[in-house]
Amino acid sequence: METVVSGIRSTGKLHLGNYYGAIQNFVKMQHEYNCYFFIADLHSLTTHPTPDDLHGNVKHVLVEYLAAGIDPDRATIYIQSDVPEIAELYLYLNMNAYLGELERSTSFKDKVRAQPDNVNAGLLTYPVLMAADILIHKATKVPVGKDQEQHLEMARTFGNRFNRLYNHDYFPEPYAFTFSENLVKIPGLDGKGKMGKSEGEANAVYLSDTPEVIRKKVMRAVTDSGPTTENQEKPQEIQNLFDLMKVVSTEDTYQHFDGLYNNCQIRYGDLKKQLAEDMIIATAPIREKINDIAADSAYLRQVARHGAIKARESAQKTIKEIRELIGFRSF
Ligand code: TYM
Repeated sequence: METVVSGIRSTGKLHLGNYYGAIQNFVKMQHEYNCYFFIADLHSLTTHPTPDDLHGNVKHVLVEYLAAGIDPDRATIYIQSDVPEIAELYLYLNMNAYLGELERSTSFKDKVRAQPDNVNAGLLTYPVLMAADILIHKATKVPVGKDQEQHLEMARTFGNRFNRLYNHDYFPEPYAFTFSENLVKIPGLDGKGKMGKSEGEANAVYLSDTPEVIRKKVMRAVTDSGPTTENQEKPQEIQNLFDLMKVVSTEDTYQHFDGLYNNCQIRYGDLKKQLAEDMIIATAPIREKINDIAADSAYLRQVARHGAIKARESAQKTIKEIRELIGFRSF
């Protein structure tokens, strides 16, 4: 059975981008594959969270994984820092990751722009840690959104480089995975780029947002003055709302509003109202479970412990083999 690995950084509550880009696929894949889904708390250290924030954010992700339907009896759910073998593999892979290629990574360049006062080495080697996450379980399928494509390419590069040095087919090649034709990119509500945690509170709709908050955020989304000729191309901010509708609404609803747009009869207020209601319906099954799961500390502890044991079993096997291959042999 093929192995699947994916993770989400513990940097806050999860939003629709995380859900449609990643978690929805996690839930489907757990029935068909050997799945490892983790909380990337080591990755989140690049922004220097306080100990309380770090812990709270790990909990958010764990709770929301469970609320979204990841079943700890089917998939291994664990916290990255509970598996120190990942950090060890990261160290080995770092020896063959080069400054030039790390500096060229799009996400590194974005971070340099976003946090110019904190361009730490962890940011630079972020893709190496991500490769270690994936290669530690020898995964071949990695369910992620479009923004992670380049990281997957780098993971293949680092794995192949290791293979060339030590053993030609030790690591299989991991590829980004989705059930649909293309990797998903969910736009935000600010009329510009993707939905994200760092793009501002109002840009993202969180799985835990109440219906009132969802309505408020969607109604404030950027629009324009409307089309003036039939079948006019949609400007970015309007296309974004239609793209969101495509994922949360029915095909009929989408076609209805698309038709109105093309006939210059669209009323954005109606479109946004519908979009907000459909987001509320789409997130309801998750939102309704979040509080109960969050209150059950014993259950959360049990899931995290059980997951750590299973993940470490797999990771320890890989690290033992790797140490042998590299030449760390006992006398
Ligand atoms: P992160 O925490 O930024 O996002 C987690 C997952 O959500 C997806 N995602 C989106 N998909 C579509 N549209 C969006 N607007 C959107 N925003 C976020 C991301 O593509 C991702 O799948 N580097 C990773 C975490 C990570 C990881 C790994 C993933 C660390 N190690 C190993 C896979 C395998 C990250 O920062 O994701």
